[in-house]
Amino acid sequence: MDFQQVFGKPPETQASAPGRVNLLGEHTDYNDGFVLPTAIPQHTTVQLGLSSDRQHQFYSQNLDERVSILDGNHTPSGFSSYIFGCIQVLEQAGYTIQPLAVYVQSSVPMGSGLSSSAALEVATLRAIRQLLNLPLDDVEIAQLAQQAEIHYAGVQCGIMDQMASSLADTEHILFLDTRTMERRVLPLPTGTEVLVIDSGVPRTLASSGYNQRRAECEEAAHLLGVKALRDITDASAVEELPEPLRRRARHVVTEDNRVLEVLQGVTPERFGELMNASHASLRDDYEVSVPALDTLVDILQKTAGVFGARLTGAGFGGASVALVAEGEAKAIANQVLEQYNHAGYTGQILVPASNVEF
Ligand code: GLA
Repeated sequence: MDFQQVFGKPPETQASAPGRVNLLGEHTDYNDGFVLPTAIPQHTTVQLGLSSDRQHQFYSQNLDERVSILDGNHTPSGFSSYIFGCIQVLEQAGYTIQPLAVYVQSSVPMGSGLSSSAALEVATLRAIRQLLNLPLDDVEIAQLAQQAEIHYAGVQCGIMDQMASSLADTEHILFLDTRTMERRVLPLPTGTEVLVIDSGVPRTLASSGYNQRRAECEEAAHLLGVKALRDITDASAVEELPEPLRRRARHVVTEDNRVLEVLQGVTPERFGELMNASHASLRDDYEVSVPALDTLVDILQKTAGVFGARLTGAGFGGASVALVAEGEAKAIANQVLEQYNHAGYTGQILVPASNVEF
C-alpha cells in the first residue's frame, strides 16, 4: 500500500536518511569521545501530510501496520514510538505540530546494529522540518533525534548514530568529536571498501546491557575525578580502578586513542590492525561480543584481502564490519559466509548492498 492508499490523499512532502556503520570508536560517544562512522546505502524514507482527523496516523510499509495516536494520551511502542518521540521533542522545543499522517518505508536492516532507529528519527525530523519550514540545521536534527531515542525508546545512547545519519555520506568516513561536535570528513583508506556481514544473531539484552555499560563508565570517570573518560589519555591511569570498571575504562581510553591514530593518517594495514584491536577490546574488556560475532570476526580476520574486522554498533549480536581490498568485498563475503554458515550460523551480506531502493 502506498501513502495514497493508506491515507486517501497524496503526501505533501518526503525525506530520507541512511543507516550507518561505525568503522572505529565503539562505546566512546557517551564518554565524550571520538567516533568514525560512515553512512550505508540502505535508508529510511518518511512521507508526510497533515492528518485528516485529530489524531496522528502512522503507517509502516515494512510491517504493514497502522497506528493512531491521540496526541499526549499515551506513549506508543514499536516503530511508532520513534515517530511519536520526534514529535514530542519538537513540541518540547517550542514548535506546534498539528496531527500528522506519516508513512514509513525502510531498507535499513533492523536489529543488526546499523541504526535503523536513528534513520527513522532523522528522516521523520527532516520531513517535518520540510513540511513546517522549521529553522533547524542538521546538527540540531541529530540532537533532537537523540533526545527522542533516549526519552521514547529508553536507550541512554550517545550522539553518534543520529549525527552519522544526519551528516555522513556513503563515500566518506565522518570523524566526530562527540564533546565539541568538531567533525572532519575523511576519505576511506586508498584501495579499500567496507564490507558488512550480519551475524544472524539478533541483538538481545542490548538496551539493558548498554545502559549498564554507560553507568559503569560514568562511575569510572567519577572515581578518576574527570568529567568523562574522554579526559583520560594515558591508559595506565585506569589500572587502579576496581573490576569491572578497570576493563570498561581501559576499552574506552584505548578505543579513543585508536580513533585519534587514524586521524593522523594511517595505511589500510594499520587501519585494519586498529579494527582488530578494537574487537579484542570489545570482547575482552567491554564484554559486549557474543560467540557468533567472535566466530565471524575471526574468519574475516584470517581471510586474504581483509585488512581488519570487528563487531560494529553496540554489540550483543548484530553485524560485523571489515575493511577489505577494493572490488573484492563480494568475493570475500562469499568465502567467509561459506565457513561461517558451515559453523552452524546464518550470516548475510549487508554492504555492499543489493536492492536498497523501493
Ligand atoms: C549504539 C548507540 C550509540 C553508540 C553505539 C556504540 O549504536 O546508539 O550512541 O554508543 O551503540 O558505539
